[in-house]
Amino acid sequence: MGEQGACLRRVKGKVMDEARTIALLVELHRGLARLGPGDDEVTRRALATCTPRPRRPMILDIGAGTGAQSLCLALACEGRVVAVDRFEGFVAELASRARMAGVAGRIAPCVADMAHLPFAAASFDIAWSEGAAYLLGFDAALDRWRPLLRPGGWLVVTELAWFGSARPPEAVAFWARNYPALRDDAANLSAARERGWRVAGHFHLPAEAWLNYHAPLRERLPAFRTRHAGDAEAAAVAEATETEIELMARHAASVGYSCYVLQRA
Ligand SMILES: C[S@@+](CC[C@H](N)C(=O)[O-])C[C@H]1O[C@@H](n2cnc3c(N)ncnc32)[C@H](O)[C@@H]1O
Repeated sequence: MGEQGACLRRVKGKVMDEARTIALLVELHRGLARLGPGDDEVTRRALATCTPRPRRPMILDIGAGTGAQSLCLALACEGRVVAVDRFEGFVAELASRARMAGVAGRIAPCVADMAHLPFAAASFDIAWSEGAAYLLGFDAALDRWRPLLRPGGWLVVTELAWFGSARPPEAVAFWARNYPALRDDAANLSAARERGWRVAGHFHLPAEAWLNYHAPLRERLPAFRTRHAGDAEAAAVAEATETEIELMARHAASVGYSCYVLQRA
């Protein structure tokens, strides 16, 4: 898809200049410690499920953003992390955060497209992608990233999913417009199995994972609106961001992110 993170879904329903929308979204997100829902506890829990693994695994973080997971992974194990994102500004931030955290020697920041990753087959023990696989499509990401893993290697992906059987009409309408590929856990897990993955574990991200992303993002909206007063596209980006934040809070029991820990069979 080649688009900016989770946030672009929010404005897809409106006809806008895509490059300008992406630029506005990048501006709104720059400097944030995470660019999607997540939590260090979630990352560590998923890593613990990737067992057995080498003592110093080679890890590929795809759609790494400003480095929330790359840093957590580098601090949680003795491995090396190649952190890939399409946006140079985010990758530069990630590099600076890695220096500040004292792990720059074990994180290699890389500007690349997740659809055409410039690595040899079987280069990694673990591939990681929180909040970004949907940009390729969950199934396509599972197929495309698989050859990069060594046999027995791990893929950890977080993906938006329906929880349980309730389908609040407001949420159904919103996601039909913004992410029509949205499925439930059972469908995502069977798609993974059909593609030859062993499911080692899966769990729902807790409410804090959304707060970690949405609370600082919401705080930025007033200044963003002031900076772009009179700009209809910026107003639409701010409004769509606010709508998603409120909708996710209202329907957290019905829809949210799942974490899937898969092993290359
Ligand atoms: C929702 S954000 C998640 C970032 C990070 N994993 C986190 O949780 O903070 C999705 C990321 O995917 C990146 N991205 C978008 N399209 C991409 C592409 N084609 N290739 C690589 N990265 C891409 C965005 O720049 C953004 O940093």
